[in-house]
Amino acid sequence: MRTRFTEAFGVRHPIVLSGMSWISTPEMVAAVARAGGLGILATGVLTGEQTRAAIARTRELVGELPFAGNATLYFPGAERNARILIEEKVPVVNFSLGKGDWICEAVHAYGGKVIATVTTHKHALAAQRDGADALIVTGHEAAAHGGDVTSLVLVPAIADAVDIPVIAAGGFADGRGLAAALALGADGIAMGTRFMNTVESPVHERMKRLSTTSTAYDTVRTDRVDGMAMRAARAPGVRYVGRQNLNPVNALVNSREIARMTGFPWARLAMGILASGPRTSRLMSKMANGFTAFRRGTVEGDVERGVLPLGQVTGLVDDTPSVAELIDRVVGGAETVARALAGASAPSAGQ
Ligand SMILES: Cc1cc2nc3c(=O)[nH]c(=O)nc-3n(C[C@H](O)[C@H](O)[C@H](O)COP(=O)(O)O)c2cc1C
Repeated sequence: MRTRFTEAFGVRHPIVLSGMSWISTPEMVAAVARAGGLGILATGVLTGEQTRAAIARTRELVGELPFAGNATLYFPGAERNARILIEEKVPVVNFSLGKGDWICEAVHAYGGKVIATVTTHKHALAAQRDGADALIVTGHEAAAHGGDVTSLVLVPAIADAVDIPVIAAGGFADGRGLAAALALGADGIAMGTRFMNTVESPVHERMKRLSTTSTAYDTVRTDRVDGMAMRAARAPGVRYVGRQNLNPVNALVNSREIARMTGFPWARLAMGILASGPRTSRLMSKMANGFTAFRRGTVEGDVERGVLPLGQVTGLVDDTPSVAELIDRVVGGAETVARALAGASAPSAGQ
């Protein structure tokens, strides 16, 4: 299946593995690359050294196939990791939650490509102006930090407003979804929740079972976890973190964990939290508690004290296929839908 995205990024299928912390590892990225999609290596919770090692491991596994690495610019250590992606000349760099003009300039200088992740019109236009080669447009249905507007409306609205390829994210899990995204003017889809529940995904087995049995009604969108509106599995851990966020001491304790994970000096992080004024300080405190909760949810499968980002599309996820099976199924399903629609709209004999 060819689109502007597959042509520009040199992949066989218009399918992207979202950059999910602890999940989008070199092995997952490679499984997606071998199956013809584009995998985004998540660097959000990696130190600089771990980021370099993950890039090297991904290269070893994918050979000449393209892959991407992400930097969520809002997180501590993200700018450093973005610079490492650039130094290592990663073929595609994906950035979100920040200004990426300097990333576009540096990546284009070595012949790489940039994908910006956005949730609003304003940020889509800014990213295009800054030089992004494609956009991931994330709607309201998405796991974690999707937009306020649903994919059904956000994707065509942004596709109309920009000239670069648009990859739709939030609510996609099967061939019908891919066909619908293409009909909305997108050039491909990115999937998080669906890829999380695959054989190769390193998420805790309990969370694969949870996503298999959850319905579309079993997620919650709240800013009580990490300070920004995010969607997660409806489980006791969400309330637990909400309570934790009421006590500032927890933030200082948990910021130690962020510091260790990202290699960011703890003293600077803690001082930053304390010195950033009441509003930002509250936000950073929640972020510190949120990081710990996401690790507990994703890695430890702890639904009591941890939080698992989960999209509404979990209601369409009821099995655990391999990455290759999933990609074949999504592409095959979209082709079937496209043929059925072409048949339905073809003029019948005599017309
Ligand atoms: C378990 C899990 C972890 C995620 N972690 C991150 C993350 O660390 N950074 C990020 O930007 N998005 C993260 N996301 C969101 C995805 O990148 C993506 O935007 C979203 O999953 C797309 O919507 P979908 O779940 O409906 O496919 C995560 C999603 C899931 C399911």
